[in-house]
Amino acid sequence: MIPMSGSAKTETRAYGIRLLHSRHPEIRRHKRLNTPVVHGNRHWASSWLLMDYFKRRGLPRKAHVMEVGCGWGLAGIYCAKKQGATVTGVDIDAEVFPYLRLHADINKVEISVMNKGFDGLTGRVLKDVDVLIGADICFWDDMMDPLKRLVLRAIRARVRLVVIADPGRPPFQRLCEYFLEKRGAEALDWTAVRPRPIRGLLLKIGA
Ligand SMILES: C[S@@+](CC[C@H](N)C(=O)[O-])C[C@H]1O[C@@H](n2cnc3c(N)ncnc32)[C@H](O)[C@@H]1O
Repeated sequence: MIPMSGSAKTETRAYGIRLLHSRHPEIRRHKRLNTPVVHGNRHWASSWLLMDYFKRRGLPRKAHVMEVGCGWGLAGIYCAKKQGATVTGVDIDAEVFPYLRLHADINKVEISVMNKGFDGLTGRVLKDVDVLIGADICFWDDMMDPLKRLVLRAIRARVRLVVIADPGRPPFQRLCEYFLEKRGAEALDWTAVRPRPIRGLLLKIGA
């Protein structure tokens, strides 16, 4: 039974995934104990773009997916639940992980977590990854260079596919411009249909 506060909805279901709202009692309880400080205090909409992308295009079979800047981890949870992937969620802020674990539990999947920043993900870690994903992780100017270095290390480590979603903020646009000059990169204008129409950009490198 889904707890309700008055008549207000306390969760969203889309792409086969459950997302609890801030007013949900479990989220309220977590907020008293865990305070993410780098905008990981809620779920961000670009994750739905990744879910829509993988629903339409699929994932390689039994892929190891690493979600960087995972926050509550909904995109990775989708990959585990609906695409059978093995998923690692990576975030610089360990305060996000209780929210990720809560959502992994209610969605009945297991997700590993790693407390690291973009620069902490070495080639040695990345060599076991098939698909690198991220949503809403390039919102400050000083995030672009660490992300650029991370994606370059991922390409060198033979990660097969990188997909990063964003509403299209200027630092992300610059990241796209940099990789569009490299072979195999695409910037896709993408619209997710659920839980409401959400439009944004996907930087896709590899296949
Ligand atoms: C806007 S939130 C997006 C969270 C999640 N991807 C989503 O779509 O709901 C940005 C996330 O990136 C994380 N983050 C910020 N800088 C980071 C860095 N240098 N390395 C790894 N994670 C970082 C934050 O802690 C936060 O969880």
